Amino acid sequence: MSQHTSIDSIRHDYQRDSLGRSDLQASPFEQFAIWLQDAIDDGLPEPTAMTLATIGADGGPTARTVLLKDQPQGGFTFYTNYESRKGQEMAAHPQVGLLFLWKELERQVHIRGVVEKVSREESENYFFSRPYASRIGAWASRQSQEIESREALMAQAAEAEARFPDSGAADCVPLPDFWGGYRVKPSSFEFWQGGPGRKHDRFIYRPADSGDWEIIRLNP
Ligand SMILES: Cc1cc2nc3c(=O)[nH]c(=O)nc-3n(C[C@H](O)[C@H](O)[C@H](O)COP(=O)(O)O)c2cc1C
Repeated sequence: MSQHTSIDSIRHDYQRDSLGRSDLQASPFEQFAIWLQDAIDDGLPEPTAMTLATIGADGGPTARTVLLKDQPQGGFTFYTNYESRKGQEMAAHPQVGLLFLWKELERQVHIRGVVEKVSREESENYFFSRPYASRIGAWASRQSQEIESREALMAQAAEAEARFPDSGAADCVPLPDFWGGYRVKPSSFEFWQGGPGRKHDRFIYRPADSGDWEIIRLNP
């Protein structure tokens, strides 16, 4: 018989690191890049995974995980089905939240911003770099719509494979019109580092009148 742990007794005191103003880069993009690199260097699983929060048609929030694929100065890019639930929600309300949790590093980053679609050329460049099965997967899934069974999904994939056989060429599967990238242009960033006794470090970057970013420490 397995022992049941009472979940209200699960607690962890964050001791790993601290975050002070002098540790912070002037640019939140550079600060983010350092933390992402730390997560990669530490060998964390899925270091680029982020929760994308959007505004639903009923005004309530919705959330799901997506993978960060590019982080040029100015935006955070991910790829998905434009007709999915999130795609429809972002078409109506481009304001989104992104949340990275690197729990092994006791770190969290919360970004708020506005999304726009990337160019078709940029989506193609990424799409053609994906493995054949992933490219077929994009065609095979009417993402977020009801499907009867797993068999039905496999049949949709087989149909796409027959239509676009694997010639080995990057563009043997074309980019679907309904699939591509979004870029989130951040309006604020919050960096959180867990501290002992729930005395965590939290800093928010927001645009200052000067055009630079102002950095404010928040109560945890
Ligand atoms: C680790 C992880 C990574 C994921 N990455 C993506 C992604 O990059 N793009 C995507 O469309 N869905 C991704 N998904 C699936 C989404 O979380 C979600 O189920 C799907 O996009 C449908 O969301 P929607 O119905 O809210 O539009 C990922 C899921 C997990 C758990």
